[in-house]
Amino acid sequence: MTETNRAAWGSKLGIMLASAGSAVGLGNLWRFPFCTAQNGGGSFLIIYLICSFTIGAALVFTEAALGMKVKSEPSDAFGWIHPRLKFIGGLCILTSAIILPYYNVVGGWILAYIFKSFSITSIKNFGEAFTDFSSSAFEPLLFFYAYMIGTAIIVYMGIQKGIEKFCKIMMPVLFVLLIVLMIRVLMLDRALEGVKFFFLPDISKLNGKTMLDAMGQVFFSVSVGMGVYITYGSYVKDNTESVSRIMWPVVVLDVLISLLAGLTIFPAVFSFNIPINAGPALIFITLPKIFASLPFGQFFGLIFFIILLGAAATSSISLMEVPVAFLCDRMKFSRPKAVVLFTVFCLITGTFTSLSFGKLGEFKIAGKILFDQFDFLASNILLPLGGFLTCIAVGWILGSGKLVVFNNSRLQKSFEFCIKWIAPIAILLILLKGIELI
Ligand code: PFF
Repeated sequence: MTETNRAAWGSKLGIMLASAGSAVGLGNLWRFPFCTAQNGGGSFLIIYLICSFTIGAALVFTEAALGMKVKSEPSDAFGWIHPRLKFIGGLCILTSAIILPYYNVVGGWILAYIFKSFSITSIKNFGEAFTDFSSSAFEPLLFFYAYMIGTAIIVYMGIQKGIEKFCKIMMPVLFVLLIVLMIRVLMLDRALEGVKFFFLPDISKLNGKTMLDAMGQVFFSVSVGMGVYITYGSYVKDNTESVSRIMWPVVVLDVLISLLAGLTIFPAVFSFNIPINAGPALIFITLPKIFASLPFGQFFGLIFFIILLGAAATSSISLMEVPVAFLCDRMKFSRPKAVVLFTVFCLITGTFTSLSFGKLGEFKIAGKILFDQFDFLASNILLPLGGFLTCIAVGWILGSGKLVVFNNSRLQKSFEFCIKWIAPIAILLILLKGIELI
């Protein structure tokens, strides 16, 4: 595709909200609360905030700047730095091909819960039915297919008419609904206990593991390490604005939604004296039970799952846009052909990940079912590896002054220092932890 007929965002707000939509997702509403709970609340929060506004922001800016400069998909963007670096783009596609088939299975569960909230009279049944539902063969698959096809339709509709339009509607709705839900939860008895747990740092819990967990959470949550912002940045038509001016809301909104999620989930859990246990159980079992005991609980439960669906969907479309851009830019596929091809691939691999909760539960790779193995591979290895290689490519091979992110020279210098030293060292630590070498 030549630069002139290449798709483009309709407005600055469009790229901002689409990028924020990629960042805000299950990572904020599901992963962040249980990571925080496991790591002592407030102390984890402090490290998470510091990492988001330094390493997280630096990587978002770097990726977007690369995309805005090269105006092509990730492998071309890295190839521009050095032809030998094109393989990093391939790694981005691989990461997307691994995340989408399990992320969208969870998207399907959420969709199913929304439908069930209309048909089941007591929301209590949801929690009890979760294990039965996720381990059954057909129902989760059906909803996964529906969610996957929904994602594909938005991507198929293109940058302006599909992704931009969807994110412009979904992001404000999500924000408002989350605030409504938070206010309702904060009115519960003992809600303050949860707020205290979330904000008061417990210094004794500050250790190497907390720090590494917080950094890992930041990478997954802000969506760095697989070229999403390279791809989204490549659709910016005019480069008159500095990268930081366009992209700063991404990290701010991502952190804000995590804070709102914490301020909704912890007060709810604390006021019902329920232990916070990890994983899918928190949002699919514990929270529906809590909502069930509130007046109009079914309504609040429905709002919660609509929020989850919106957040997950804006992330899923960004995950899909990366391989689609690759197929269009490099392989010269038409958008419809690229979308259909990648969707069929995801429908097939996703069938296996979905069935790994039931019929294929016995099939394990290195002791993990397929779903868990994909999650482990993506968040603990591939995303940090992609982030690390991006830092090396930009900080060391491209060299300073080639990617201008800030108009202010002092901020630009700090950014370059972060990409050259702080970020790669921090990511290396996460990677080593991911493969259990430290
Ligand atoms: N950031 C998304 C979330 O918080 O759910 C997940 C994600 C999307 C990770 C896109 C990586 C990515 F490239």
